[in-house]
Amino acid sequence: MKRAIITSALPYANGEIHLGHVASTYLPADITTRFLKMTGTEAYYICASDDYGTPILIQAEKEKKSPEEYVKIWNKRDYEDFTAFGIAFDFFYRTSSPENVEFVQETFLKLMDNGHIYEQEIIQFYCNFDKKFLPDRYVIGRCPYCKAEDQYSDLCEKCGRVPQEIENPKCSICKNPPTKERTTHYFFKLTNFVSDLGKWLESDSFLQKDVKKYVQNWIKDGLVDWDITRDISWGVPIPLENAKGKVFYGWFDNHLAYISSAVKFLKDRGIEGKEFWNASTIYHFIGKDIVYHHYLFLPAMRIGIKNEFKLPDYIPTRGHLMLQSRKISKSRNWYIGLKDFLNLYPADYLRFYLTLITPYSQDDLNFDWEEFAARINSELIGNIGNFINRALGFTKKTTGGSVPQEEHLDQADVDAQEKIKTLALELTPIMEENHLDRALKKILEFSAYFNQYFQKKEPWKGNHGTNNCIVISVNAVRSIAISLFPFLPDSSQKIWAQLNLAGKVYDQPWSSMSDLPLGKGHTIGEPTPLFKKIEPADIQSRKANLGNNGS
Ligand code: 2FM
Ligand code: ZN
Repeated sequence: MKRAIITSALPYANGEIHLGHVASTYLPADITTRFLKMTGTEAYYICASDDYGTPILIQAEKEKKSPEEYVKIWNKRDYEDFTAFGIAFDFFYRTSSPENVEFVQETFLKLMDNGHIYEQEIIQFYCNFDKKFLPDRYVIGRCPYCKAEDQYSDLCEKCGRVPQEIENPKCSICKNPPTKERTTHYFFKLTNFVSDLGKWLESDSFLQKDVKKYVQNWIKDGLVDWDITRDISWGVPIPLENAKGKVFYGWFDNHLAYISSAVKFLKDRGIEGKEFWNASTIYHFIGKDIVYHHYLFLPAMRIGIKNEFKLPDYIPTRGHLMLQSRKISKSRNWYIGLKDFLNLYPADYLRFYLTLITPYSQDDLNFDWEEFAARINSELIGNIGNFINRALGFTKKTTGGSVPQEEHLDQADVDAQEKIKTLALELTPIMEENHLDRALKKILEFSAYFNQYFQKKEPWKGNHGTNNCIVISVNAVRSIAISLFPFLPDSSQKIWAQLNLAGKVYDQPWSSMSDLPLGKGHTIGEPTPLFKKIEPADIQSRKANLGNNGS
């Protein structure tokens, strides 16, 4: 049996999940996992909250909570929101779990033994007003590479690079310029891995070509060793006598939780984690802002512990979601919370629209309320909903729901049967290449084809061939239900029920969408409209409400 482990970027445990998060990462990973499971792969979708790091500590301090208490709240809330959106994690854990802490410390010691860690005294920003060292987000300034202003010292959001030293630094709490103090830090020798990383990028054919190219350019420009130490209280303690009070940088520990969480999940099921991991196809779904970490730090660390856990096969990387053509920003209140959205519309509407607008590339995408309504009304309802309701409604009306005996097939019937028989063949490679938007468009084409087939056959006239039209259309509805499952799990199951088919859609083999098993002797269930149109007036009020989160 084939095996796969799927992860998606771990959400920081410090704020609600919004549409920007789900479009590029969680939804594509969820669709992929559902697809893999239906193809008979033993696939597990593993995620966790990203609990450590400076921003979380800052936020917890602001809210007068202990960081433990604070991250627990967000771990629970994020999981609930994901679940409401139909994101079906097999396991949602946390980077602050005892398993991860232990694994991170072990990994560090192995890297040290293998000569990939060194100690160095550095000058660190220090705020004399707040009386603390100022790592990462505690300092804002100008990016030394692209000169973008107002960037955090640990990541330039404009050019995606990790600045070695930010220019014109200011303390992000009190906005005063910091002073510099001495402190001892541990560094990961990223420079040891230039050749191995280069080879990996060249050899691996599943990584996206355009992403690989710019990572290769970063390597060409020269890598720098990586400071993995933070002088703060919240993080995985560095397991060395003379490192008391120091913790690991969040990006040193977080991606190790992909492994430690998977191993814990598997262990609880009596499966040996390392063996399973190494026999699996590994997918790490990410947004393009964290390419640097996933294409350099993560593989280097895995190579540094002698590939005990294999490197990823796929790092599906997608662009950022814009909102009404403007960059999403929590601080500027320009975002839509997932929970709020799901209070207005069914999860499947959002899954449908986001999938269609999200290509398998780093291109940015745009959420537009009017386009959302138009595509739901014309494509989900006008195409798919219409065909299903027409086919099942007509069957119910004419035969009381029982599927009739086929008659002699005409060319249109033969062609339509052929469409069903080749659907899986057409869809599977596109799904395997992770072009999920294109796959959904194929299903829409399939449904449009059957709308036309039904229209041309004019079964309401009761001519010869009416039975064929019913039998083939009912089977096409079944094919739509199966192929739609990874994308729209709730609607797919509803279609299944309307067909009066037993069990769960996800128990159907993916390739069975190309069968035509429904014939004489089967009686369909009760056809009812699957979807409700979005009214233009609603959309105007949604637009007017943007920017009013929490008020
Ligand atoms: O950028 C982020 O939101 C991080 N929390 C992602 C972490 S992914 C990791 F664990 F590799
Ligand atoms: Zn300060």
